[in-house]
Amino acid sequence: MTALLSTVDLSLQFGGVNALSGVSLSIESNSLHSIIGPNGAGKTSLFNCLTGYYQPTGGSVLFADRDITKMGAADVAALGIRRTFQNIRVFPRMSVLENILAGAHLLAKSNLYSILVGTPEFRRNERSLHERAMASLEFVGLAPQAAKLAGDLPYGMRKRMELARVLIADPKLVLLDEPAAGVSSVEREELSRVISRIHTNGICVVLIEHDVELVMEIATDVTVLDNGRVIATGLPHDVRTNPDVIRAYMGRSRK
Ligand SMILES: Nc1ncnc2c1ncn2[C@@H]1O[C@H](COP(=O)(O)OP(=O)(O)OP(=O)(O)O)[C@@H](O)[C@H]1O
Ligand SMILES: [Mg+2]
Repeated sequence: MTALLSTVDLSLQFGGVNALSGVSLSIESNSLHSIIGPNGAGKTSLFNCLTGYYQPTGGSVLFADRDITKMGAADVAALGIRRTFQNIRVFPRMSVLENILAGAHLLAKSNLYSILVGTPEFRRNERSLHERAMASLEFVGLAPQAAKLAGDLPYGMRKRMELARVLIADPKLVLLDEPAAGVSSVEREELSRVISRIHTNGICVVLIEHDVELVMEIATDVTVLDNGRVIATGLPHDVRTNPDVIRAYMGRSRK
């Protein structure tokens, strides 16, 4: 087993709040690793530290044995680490396809001259980007919706669209922050299938999710955070029956 991503003694403070304290974890390269824990446990803060959105107060983040602790978000993304956000981020007045392309254009190797003049190289890039965008939409089951306005899609489909936007970048690792929160049970099944398929296609997935049933169905590993600390990590079933985990969840409300 080799770790694709790991943290050593990670900490993050906001004023007097310890959002993360001494978090050491290891994400194996072929895993679908779920991060669970009560509200305010530090799950999103952890993602923000892993993806260069926040600088941790202490500790380090390693990706493929490279220290990425101090890298900014754009550099981390360029390494092939892609994420979704807890709050949906779509351009509602653009089509579904344009939403996917909007992210991808940032990745295209086009300079301003080739865009303005429309060089053959630019047109080739455009064509292959378009094909990749359609393939990503196909993957998440949204190809028939490609021409629809993103704002007109039901909420669950917009969540799937966000997955397509991540996939077009051909990532090595995807971090999903509560992709199934607030969706219908039918959409949750759909999202769960798509997330599993991302994993079986060889992409490492880290999944923040509060639906423990969903986690039990698809995760290969689970880490539980509480009050910014790791209180358990291991196989889904072992974690679920861990007394510390049961205690952390008792009397706490989840969304
Ligand atoms: N930008 C910030 N400024 C100040 N405090 C923050 C900030 N971001 C997070 N926190 C605090 O850090 C702690 C962890 O928050 P975080 O959002 O990481 O939790 P979470 O596990 O993702 O919770 P949820 O399940 O509600 O999404 C909380 O006490 C939160 O109030
Ligand atoms: Mg969160």
